[in-house]
Amino acid sequence: MSEKKILLLGSGFVAAPFVDYVLRRPENKVTIASRTLANAQTLQAKFPNNTTAVAVDISDAQAIEDLVAQHDIAISLIPYIYHAKVIAAAVKHKKNVVTTSYVSPAMMEYDQAAKDAGITVMNEIGLDPGIDHLYAVRTIDEVHKEGGKIKEFISFCGGLPAPENSDNPFGYKFSWSARGVLLALKNTARYLENGKVVEVSGPELMESVRVLNTGYPGYAFVGYGNRDSTPYDKRYHIPEAETIIRGSIRYDGFPQLAKALVTLGFLNEEPVAHLAADAGEISWSQVIAQVVGASSNDADTLKAAIIEKAGIANEPRLNHILDGMRWLGFFSDIKVTRRGNLLDTFCATLEEKMQYEEGERDMCFLQHRFEVELKDGTKQTRTSTMIEYGVPGGYSAMAKTVGVPCGIATQLILDGKLTQTGVLAPMTPEINDPIIELLEKENIKIVDRIL
Ligand SMILES: *[C@@H]1O[C@H](CO)[C@@H](O)[C@H](O)[C@H]1NC(C)=O
Repeated sequence: MSEKKILLLGSGFVAAPFVDYVLRRPENKVTIASRTLANAQTLQAKFPNNTTAVAVDISDAQAIEDLVAQHDIAISLIPYIYHAKVIAAAVKHKKNVVTTSYVSPAMMEYDQAAKDAGITVMNEIGLDPGIDHLYAVRTIDEVHKEGGKIKEFISFCGGLPAPENSDNPFGYKFSWSARGVLLALKNTARYLENGKVVEVSGPELMESVRVLNTGYPGYAFVGYGNRDSTPYDKRYHIPEAETIIRGSIRYDGFPQLAKALVTLGFLNEEPVAHLAADAGEISWSQVIAQVVGASSNDADTLKAAIIEKAGIANEPRLNHILDGMRWLGFFSDIKVTRRGNLLDTFCATLEEKMQYEEGERDMCFLQHRFEVELKDGTKQTRTSTMIEYGVPGGYSAMAKTVGVPCGIATQLILDGKLTQTGVLAPMTPEINDPIIELLEKENIKIVDRIL
């Protein structure tokens, strides 16, 4: 086999299982390109054979283009705003591209150009988006072929600490920065429910939480809408569906605590003088006194002011919320790490207290719930469920379930088995079935049930 040159842009935590997968083939050579050479080298050190580490300034379009031109395929695991530049370079030099990100309008603009150049730009091939599409499309296609209808499609997915490692009031841990997770709480969710479009704007998102009926009492999650689910009538070819919801999962307790923090202003990015890096030391209780406008920073005064300001006097989980704030150190003399504003100062505390520790494992849970009407009119509820655990000392479930599908799509393109051109997502059985077959060989499986 002739040598295949793979350009990997980004060396984040999903990169290792990707590299691991593609290096099974001796003809594959991987160039790991990262903003800092040291990060690329750290990843390379895990795979010393057939890899090269380079530094690249991802905002430098010419540097990206030069790298793309020297490879057969580019895997873009850098922030999504840079993907369009990678695709532009790939179109120009007739190279293929894979990303795990949603197709953005800026990426879609290259669809015709990609077709004209005869290249494959495969996107949305991680976990969510990725594995979720594979199994949604599979069941939908199966039901349609049998003459049935999908009346409801409800899908929830998320990465959480495994239950035994969910040992904090949020039941949540960060694999990377806290900032993105917190800012996502401001997103607007849109979905279709009983024939009506429902829009939940940022502040109400945590109130819209519902208890999931997973069919597995041992997996009792709550969930809320994730981005805009309304285009999925077209994307999944289910115009007949009256309910289409895609969402994220959390353990119960997270939304109530998060909502109180959002109401108190913890997502605020405006500069605050006493949180400036060059301001004097300040404790959490002093910061909280400022946040809630309390006259003193003793715990009882702060709690009363928090209840008032957050409007949580009648909240059933009030004690959980206050315990959570105590756990965060809000009533203590612990000095904050000043990062200029409340959001980033809060992130510093979260990142310190909510990291995965050595030996801990995460879990990814994905479930589709389909309300089906069969050809003869009978109703049926089907679920497709994936539950993956990370391996302490090995790959996290999140890294594996994003990196491996991406590796599989890459290998299929290199082998000439995924040949559709244009800016693609896994939305057809022709593209998806070969990926599913290889995923199952990696023991990433979905369990289908008819309830
Ligand atoms: C590296 O490439 C050489 C030459 O193609 C091949 O013989 C070897 O098996 C590869 N090693 C790995 C770890 O892929």
